Amino acid sequence: MGKHEPYHLHREGFATSLGVLAATLGSAVGLGNIWKFPYLTGQNGGAAFVLLYLVCVFFIGLPVMISEFIIGRRAKANCVTAFQKLEPNRPWYLTGVIGVISAFLIMFFYTDVAGWVYSYIFKSASGAFASIHPSETAKVFNSFISSPYAPLFWQWVVLVVISVIIIAGVTKGIERMTKTLLPILFVLLVICDIRALTLPGAAKGVAYLFKPDLTKITGAVVLSALGLAFFKLSVGMGCMTTYGSYIGNNENMPRNAIRVVLADTFVSILAGLAIFPTVFAFGFKPDAGASLLFITIPAVFKAMPGGQIFMVLFFVLSAIAATGAMISLLEVPVAYLSEQHNWSRPAATVLSALVMGVIGILATLSTSVLSKTLVLGKTFFDLFDFVSSNICLPLGGIFICLFVGWVLGRRVVLDEASNHGRLNNEAFLHIYLVVVRYVAPVAILIVLLNALGIFKF
Ligand code: PHE
Repeated sequence: MGKHEPYHLHREGFATSLGVLAATLGSAVGLGNIWKFPYLTGQNGGAAFVLLYLVCVFFIGLPVMISEFIIGRRAKANCVTAFQKLEPNRPWYLTGVIGVISAFLIMFFYTDVAGWVYSYIFKSASGAFASIHPSETAKVFNSFISSPYAPLFWQWVVLVVISVIIIAGVTKGIERMTKTLLPILFVLLVICDIRALTLPGAAKGVAYLFKPDLTKITGAVVLSALGLAFFKLSVGMGCMTTYGSYIGNNENMPRNAIRVVLADTFVSILAGLAIFPTVFAFGFKPDAGASLLFITIPAVFKAMPGGQIFMVLFFVLSAIAATGAMISLLEVPVAYLSEQHNWSRPAATVLSALVMGVIGILATLSTSVLSKTLVLGKTFFDLFDFVSSNICLPLGGIFICLFVGWVLGRRVVLDEASNHGRLNNEAFLHIYLVVVRYVAPVAILIVLLNALGIFKF
């Protein structure tokens, strides 16, 4: 392993197709599937949002992911250096800089929510839900997040855990663990689905998820769907560029991207199928926002025999999935600082985690003492979330598409993404090129300008 290479991403680690798939899927699957996808669906009116989300995932998220793989593997460097290497004369590397900033913005609130998940392992294990009625789970959650101390404590526990993992270089172990545990999370979601779908009144939840009411679509809803697609697939910010730099020359990158997108979307739909029937069966509100997961999941487990054990397991597995995603997020600034500025990896990790922890306090206190402190009409939590997912990642996406489509250009794309002509995917790549040159950048720009009110339709 070279001195400046991240421990878990050195190139042999990605020698197999399964390794590539596990690493990229490990970054994609996280709180986005079980927490953010359901709560945004609930806040934005249900199926119409899901439909928009799917369109964004396949026509924008997927091409951006392929583009990041191409940039990464061509340059074999972190997300800032990669642009510099491929185009030294123009400031395209700023795309990578926006990516590093996005990683911080996301971590400010992601560590807070991950802390809620960690604490729910202990809450469910210690029987906090044992003597309450399923409809009362909201009370438990609200009293937890409206105190400043416990959420802060858990956020810092999360930061210490991921820092230790990265510094100790045991990331490989975590990845292996994620690989074996993700299928178990999947099975648990299916168990939740079966219980949720057999609750009285479940049909309403299914209709909510799959029967679109197109009148619910507004510019803001489209932007949310687009932002979620970027966030979910870990694209637009350099994570997949960094991973791309460790993909072997014989791997089929477009195929890997398609697999990640399909598997990830499937997990989100499974989570939606567990949550919305439960919402309607127990009379919760679908638009409860960020608290939705923590209200509905305990309720569905309470409604099944042996539920407490399954609930503990569910939160353990969710914590692991979230931890895997956070490692890939923290890796972005750490790789940048250590490769580009010659910092040692431990120093880069500790400094990055400290900044995340200190500014992250603002996000965490947004549900308690800072709940009335608004910036641009949003709490700090919502502000970090909005600016990262709905502005920085789409902007990064535009630049990534333009860079691949116009700066690298047709010849390099066809060469790199077909493994020098060895893969028979030219027809696909021609469509892909049209998408990254025209369709995706224009579509993203229109959605952004429209939702921000700069340009109205
Ligand atoms: N995709 C991850 C999730 O759904 C979050 C993430 C975003 C990870 C951006 C890395 C980069 O939880």
